[in-house]
This record gives sequence, structure tokens and C-alpha cells, in this order.
Amino acid sequence: MSDQTAILDRYGLIGYPVKHSKSPVIHKLFADQSDQQMTYELLSARPEDLENAVRKFQRNGGRGLNVTVPHKAAVTRLVDEMSEEASIAGAVNTLAISPEKIVGHNTDGVGLVRDITTNWKYEVLNKRILVLGAGGAAQGIQGTLLALDPSLITIANRSIAKAEALAGHFGMLGNVEAKRFTEVNKLEPFDLVINATSAGVKGEQAPFPRAAIAAKTVCYDLSYGFSETPFITWAKSLEAETTRSGWGMLIEQAAESFKIWRDVLPDTAPVLKQLPVT
Ligand code: ATR
Repeated sequence: MSDQTAILDRYGLIGYPVKHSKSPVIHKLFADQSDQQMTYELLSARPEDLENAVRKFQRNGGRGLNVTVPHKAAVTRLVDEMSEEASIAGAVNTLAISPEKIVGHNTDGVGLVRDITTNWKYEVLNKRILVLGAGGAAQGIQGTLLALDPSLITIANRSIAKAEALAGHFGMLGNVEAKRFTEVNKLEPFDLVINATSAGVKGEQAPFPRAAIAAKTVCYDLSYGFSETPFITWAKSLEAETTRSGWGMLIEQAAESFKIWRDVLPDTAPVLKQLPVT
């Protein structure tokens, strides 16, 4: 470690895999904007090594970590305190670390909502929303979406039991129902369709319900890539009004993490311009 790095505050991303992550670039741009003296590194840790890796980072003076797949749920067991957002989501994507304690936060929901409402200027109030998938990604966004008062969130999943469990969990916060993909094909098209499955990332073709999408439908993929995601290609083939991938959400959730760590909310606009947001 050089003398210079020794005095900089350490942050990073822990996940498996993390190699291709854009988070170091995003946080470097944020740090440069506000003259923050910090480093941001990538920590690759298998599930069985998660606890050791986090504790070692804490012992070595690390100040904060972003947490990504597959650790967002598992890391909740290691934290001393959880924010309200993290408790509602049942998942943590940001750790604020001091020698005494680790606090778990979740900025994914806020990141998505800020991308939709601020960057994209889309009004969720009274809209019918379809969320495809019922895993961790779907769970992480329900609370913040429901807080914007859509008229209904329909959660559609390949295994209906997971969709029902999620709808049951969030039912007290708003109007949420669970459906099979085939049942969605019998419903009216939706205003907003959000892909929260991992099908595309795994290179699989999901049996998404075509009838969910009409010319007025706005489609959002929580995944992102350097080329068009399979969900976005599919949505465009059905002539959805607007399509958008998860780059904006990635940048916005990173900005919220940065705010938790440094008490400065970065200006995301120049960063959005520098990354291939589609
Ligand atoms: P994450 O934390 O990224 O959400 P996850 O908890 O493994 O990951 O959930 C993945 C989601 O993608 C699930 O809703 C999964 O559906 P099942 O619950 O039926 O497994 C969905 N998914 C993954 N591959 C899929 C595919 N090929 N077709 C349809 N849904 C798929």
C-alpha cells in the first residue's frame, strides 16, 4: 500500500462475481466531483467466504461496502443494525462500517424510484404495474414502489408460490396481487412492466406474458448490459412505448450509498451522460 492510499478512506463492492462491475468507475466520478479522499475496490467473495471477507475489511479500516449478488440477503445476518428500507426489503446493498459496528442499508428501491421519477419523469401514481419475477430483486423494490401509490402491483412469477409469498408480505402496504405468467395473458395490458427476473442475465428465454404490453406500456429492465438486454428486445418487438435498462438505477443507488458514507449526494447527471445508459 502506498503512503497515499494509506490515508484514504476505503470503500468497495463485495459480490461473486464482481469483475465486470462499473461501480468503481461510478464512485470515482462521484469522489472527483466532491473532492472526497477515498478508494473503491472490488472484493470477490464466494458465499462461504462472505463473513470472513467483511470482517477482514472492517478490521483493516474499511468504511463501507456495496453488496451485490448473491450476498444481499445473506449479509443481513452480519449487520448490527438495519435501516428501515433494508428491513422492509429483507436485503442489504450498502454497509456503513466502523470499528464498533456495521449498519445495513438498502438503496436499490430509492435508486429505481429516482431513476423513474426524476431522470425519466414518469408518474407512478394510480398506474397499474406488473413486476416480472419474485426473487430478491423484485422484493427489494416493492416497498418504495408502493410508497408512490400505484393503483395495483401484479407480481408474476414462474413459481406462483414465491409470487404469493411476496404479495402477502407487501399486501399491508398497498394493492398487490400474485399471478402466473399465463394468467397475466388474460389481463388488460399494464402501464409499467418491470423485469426483475434473472432470466436474461443467465442467457435464458423467459415465458413472459405478451398480453401485458401494448403501445402505451413503459418497460423497465432492472438488468443492464453493454448491448440491449433480452427483455428490452422483447418489449420493443411488442412495440412498447418506452424501454429503459437498469443503468440509471445502478447510478442512482450508488449515489444514495455515497450519501450514506460521505454525507454528500452526488450529481448523477454527468455520470449518466458518461455511461452507456439506454
Ligand atoms: P434475484 O435476487 O436477482 O432476484 P433470485 O432470487 O434467484 O435472484 O430470483 C430470480 C428470479 O428470476 C425468480 O423470480 C425466478 O423465477 P422462479 O422463482 O420461478 O425461479 C426468475 N427466473 C430466473 N430464470 C427464469 C426463467 N428462465 N424464466 C422465468 N423466470 C426466471
